[in-house]
Amino acid sequence: MLLSIPDVLTPEQVLKARGVMSGAAWVDGRVTAGHQSAKAKTNEQLPEDHPAARELGDVIVQALGRNSLFLSAALPLKVFPPLFNRYEGGQSFGTHVDNAVRQVPNSPHRVRTDLSATLFLADPTEYEGGELVVEDTYGVHSLKLPAGHMALYPASSLHHVNPVTRGARVASFFWIQSMIRDDGRRAILFDMDLAIQRLAADHPEHPSAVALTGVYHNLLRQWVEM
Ligand code: NI
Repeated sequence: MLLSIPDVLTPEQVLKARGVMSGAAWVDGRVTAGHQSAKAKTNEQLPEDHPAARELGDVIVQALGRNSLFLSAALPLKVFPPLFNRYEGGQSFGTHVDNAVRQVPNSPHRVRTDLSATLFLADPTEYEGGELVVEDTYGVHSLKLPAGHMALYPASSLHHVNPVTRGARVASFFWIQSMIRDDGRRAILFDMDLAIQRLAADHPEHPSAVALTGVYHNLLRQWVEM
């Protein structure tokens, strides 16, 4: 499932993030790439332990915790501390898959990457190219979202970032370990959650709304991994 989640950050939060990032020292993006993807990757990143990265990352994680669409779609167990990248002057990231497991820096914790997220921090008018292109069984999808919006997609999919030929593309990227490892099961629960919410809104007194909520939780209980 590929999902666009609007307004994860407010315009004010995006502006503040851009200000903090513009004053920071960037490094070669290959520091977090695996052996194979390092060959395909040219961009810059904020160092993982950079105070600005950690401060902005916390803002994003807190915003995600209040975002009902994200919570319903991702059913998150762990969120990898968000990273930040910048592409300009023709930089790109060729077709690759993300590593299955990531070590959280300076901690004993590891995150299984069920979902990948790209939170756009530059507006599409600021740069040319730079589309996030995700390949799944339904075809090839190209995304270039407004600043503050986030693309959420299975980390198992092949994906790339097109060359940025004008301006700069700034984004945050990270991974989520879901309580539901399987993408198909997670999609069923998401569809059901949305349908129950609509039913409960249109027919609040209908007993099936409660019954279906029970079915949702019983499915979740069958499949959850913590
Ligand atoms: Ni990737």
